[in-house]
Amino acid sequence: MTMNNQGRPSAVGTSENHELPTISGDRGLDHEEPLIFEIGRDGMTGVDLPDVQMSETRLGGMRRRKPIGLPGLSEPEVIRHYVRLSRMNYAIDAGLYPLGSCTMKHNPRLNEKVARLPGFGDLHPLAPQSTVQGALELIGELMMWLTTLTGMPAVAMSPKAGAHGELCGLLSIRAAIAARGEVRKRILVPASAHGTNPATAAFAGFVIDEVKGTADGRVDMVELEGKLGPDVAAIMLTNPNTCGLFERDIRHMADATHKAGAYFYCDGANFNAIAGRVRPGDLGIDAMHINLHKTFSTPHGGGGPGAGPVVLSAALAPFAPLPLLVRDSRGFRLIEDRDELPARAKPFGRMCAFHGQMGMFVRALAYMLSHGRDGVRQASEDAVLSANYILASLKDVMSAPYGNGPCMHEALFDDSFLEGSGVTTLDFAKAMIDEGYHPMTMYFPLVVHGAMLIEPTESESKESLDRFIHVLRELALEAIAKNTVRFDGAPRYAPRRRLDETAAARKPVLRWKRKDLPQAAE
Ligand SMILES: Cc1ncc(COP(=O)(O)O)c(C=O)c1O
Repeated sequence: MTMNNQGRPSAVGTSENHELPTISGDRGLDHEEPLIFEIGRDGMTGVDLPDVQMSETRLGGMRRRKPIGLPGLSEPEVIRHYVRLSRMNYAIDAGLYPLGSCTMKHNPRLNEKVARLPGFGDLHPLAPQSTVQGALELIGELMMWLTTLTGMPAVAMSPKAGAHGELCGLLSIRAAIAARGEVRKRILVPASAHGTNPATAAFAGFVIDEVKGTADGRVDMVELEGKLGPDVAAIMLTNPNTCGLFERDIRHMADATHKAGAYFYCDGANFNAIAGRVRPGDLGIDAMHINLHKTFSTPHGGGGPGAGPVVLSAALAPFAPLPLLVRDSRGFRLIEDRDELPARAKPFGRMCAFHGQMGMFVRALAYMLSHGRDGVRQASEDAVLSANYILASLKDVMSAPYGNGPCMHEALFDDSFLEGSGVTTLDFAKAMIDEGYHPMTMYFPLVVHGAMLIEPTESESKESLDRFIHVLRELALEAIAKNTVRFDGAPRYAPRRRLDETAAARKPVLRWKRKDLPQAAE
């Protein structure tokens, strides 16, 4: 037994000895855990309840006549089952999580504590507004931070994720174009865009026109300008882009877009690379979503609905969706109805029924207040520094298509260093699992062959980055030397080996039936 990079014991050896039947019956962290239904027994229970005399008259036809197939387990068995399952999950709390474009960074526990304070933790969306003035003030304060950091005059708070924010931005653009009495159907989307960008544009009823990139990983300005015309509604650009690079021509792009009468949508998922340093409003952007779970470290899922607020330029602000938060002599108020609207407001509609993501707002504001503006800038700078450290430390063994200059917050490699080795990007990523790391983002952006996109974030120490770099360097050297043993069939030390990822996504098996109780499982 040796220790893996998280200091946990790990099984070491060939796949043969790994697959020997176990002797202890307690196979530790990394192994199979049956379904709770498979370990449950009839007659076992975790609680002792007194026998109840079920009266036919009390329950009538509602009385259950057949067992329903609930698993019977004692309390410690239940706890152990769920603890074992939780250990199969890779998490940012378990180790470095280099998934590019996802910003898997530490969620400060202070934010968690604040979000659970009574008064925040038990808010109800239908509570009378006079009883939730503090919560509305908090939303107002968060709006102030978002508009200040982005240099934009307005922000829509209701979208629940980045992609939902994209939809909100594009619906605002659609409403603004309609208000001008125009019809514009085309949206220009760079080839390197995140899949949600063209998907959102199509969902909102636009036609997508792809703009190719240059050899140095940026948008091809000649092609972009050639495509701008009276039917173009908007361009949709990610900055820093998905190759981890800042778009140098962004001001020029904004001017050309506005000159053509179109709007500039920026995918702000990567705002964590520039927050506190660059204000998108100064770059000529009209709408940009911010993934609070990335830049402002709210949890990725599991913490309730997410949040993807959208900042809007003066041209788009009137079209922001309901509800609108205002402050007047009566205090803070959410305007929900059109007949209460201020004069200039022409909301396109609404994105969702309620502000269900209050917990995210509390966490994000706690992050901002605890960091301050200088701390937010420092976090962005450190994220960029970490990525450059990785790029500079590995580009002699792993091929970096745009490695001639510095990157922003993500280090991008392609698979040309693997050419002729018999190892693919997928094999390389799976071998990382055996070393105790979650793989980086693979095969994205699509414009780079066999892409490996690494986003270390600012919350890793230098020691943690050094260990990660060491592992990747060793794996790269093994692959280049055609020692494929670590890659063939990896991962070996994971609860699951290689999955058929297409079938797993397209034909998921979501239902389990207890065979001896077919009718009960219905
Ligand atoms: C560049 C980019 N745009 C958009 C999104 C979509 O954000 P969300 O997952 O919050 O919907 C992501 C998510 O990873 C992203 O990386």
